[in-house]
Amino acid sequence: MKFKALKGVHDILPPETYIWQHMEVVAKEVFRTYGYKEIRLPIIEPTDIFIRSIGETTDIVEKEMYTFQDKGGRSVTLRPEGTAPFVRAFIEHNLYNEPSPQKYYYIGPMFRYERPQAGRQRQFYQIAVEVLGTDDVKVDAEVISMLSIFFKKIGVKDIEIEVTSIGCGRCRPEYKVALKNFLKDKLNIFCDDCKRRYDINPLRILDCKVKTCIDAREGSPSVIEFLCKDCKVHFNDVRYYLRLLGIEHIINPNLVRGLDYYTRTTFEVKSPLLGAQNAVAAGGRYGSLVEEFGGPPVSGIGFAVGIERVIPLIKGLPSIWGGPDIFLCSLGKEAEEKSLLLAEQLRGEGLWVELGYDKSSLRSQMRRADRIGAKNVIVVGEDELKKQRVIIKNMKDKNEVEAAFDVKAIIKTI
Ligand code: HAM
Repeated sequence: MKFKALKGVHDILPPETYIWQHMEVVAKEVFRTYGYKEIRLPIIEPTDIFIRSIGETTDIVEKEMYTFQDKGGRSVTLRPEGTAPFVRAFIEHNLYNEPSPQKYYYIGPMFRYERPQAGRQRQFYQIAVEVLGTDDVKVDAEVISMLSIFFKKIGVKDIEIEVTSIGCGRCRPEYKVALKNFLKDKLNIFCDDCKRRYDINPLRILDCKVKTCIDAREGSPSVIEFLCKDCKVHFNDVRYYLRLLGIEHIINPNLVRGLDYYTRTTFEVKSPLLGAQNAVAAGGRYGSLVEEFGGPPVSGIGFAVGIERVIPLIKGLPSIWGGPDIFLCSLGKEAEEKSLLLAEQLRGEGLWVELGYDKSSLRSQMRRADRIGAKNVIVVGEDELKKQRVIIKNMKDKNEVEAAFDVKAIIKTI
């Protein structure tokens, strides 16, 4: 019987894994310069933390969570996102006692039972950051700036940053009334989910993916017109600092996030080169989530990059991809043993070294060296051992250079 991976769940194979590694290395390096520390969080969490934070009426909670009972009868969920688990850990370990602001990043898989399509998997990976403990608007701009620097450093140029403010608990009630008034007369056109959301959480109607609902909500008022004085000032300041930092961005008053915990600044990074699933990163501020989870009244802001969506935008393989530095072909038992020892020494010096195995012929060893793209080939036989000298063949220009059968001499020659 042949087994296959689950639908919407993918194996990530080399050479693509080199691009993944490259992305992670670049992200970690960029984040380090801003003072972010890594946090590793569980993949499985109590279900309630997602219901309470993402929101009961969101698509994620209503339709997309991998939720099941464990053997102890607890409801557990494979994390559909990382902010809620992060906030849970932040409070559980009293991380708010660390000097503010606290900056963390995490990298790992998320799970959403969505309909798979290009750029949309059921298991997908995020590189994410969270900053807690400050309301300073400069942080909003800095987080967006850091994201744009990350994209630049990995060589992704075609991106658009969309920013908006979705207000706070103070401005929202008035907006909800206006939105409900607008939708009231057309409610019969909306899907059953939206009809239900109308009373419980009308803002979620703006995120419905059903075509008739999208058409019917056309022209609805935008929350940006209803911002309270403080939110307006905050949003204007975000824009001021983005301009100061030279971050090109677009105001998209219709930007709707699929999670309920956001307040004020929200943003998405989109690529015009992708299809329907064109958001390569997204995030925003969450003013009250920590407090709602039983922590102190500190505000947070963060984003998550969807790795799979960024991969097709990276052209070519990073330089770490390539063949071994040296391929050692050996003929005879003694040569095999000496090559084995030499290979270990060369690896100790940081070189990628491959050996011929299975007592294969010189021809087949050479063929393998060629197939895996070896940069240099050294043949070790009786003669070479007797003279203690080897020929190093550069496989690119086919040049041959003689060197002593010795780690230092070989490294100097290649
Ligand atoms: P999100 O918008 O749900 O935000 O996801 C962030 C990014 O993850 C998306 O922009 C997209 O690139 C990627 N993504 C989401 N779903 C899928 C999928 N099914 N397949 C492939 N990629 C996907 C969050 O998750 C928030 N926790 C971000 C955040 C951090 N906000 C504040 N801090």
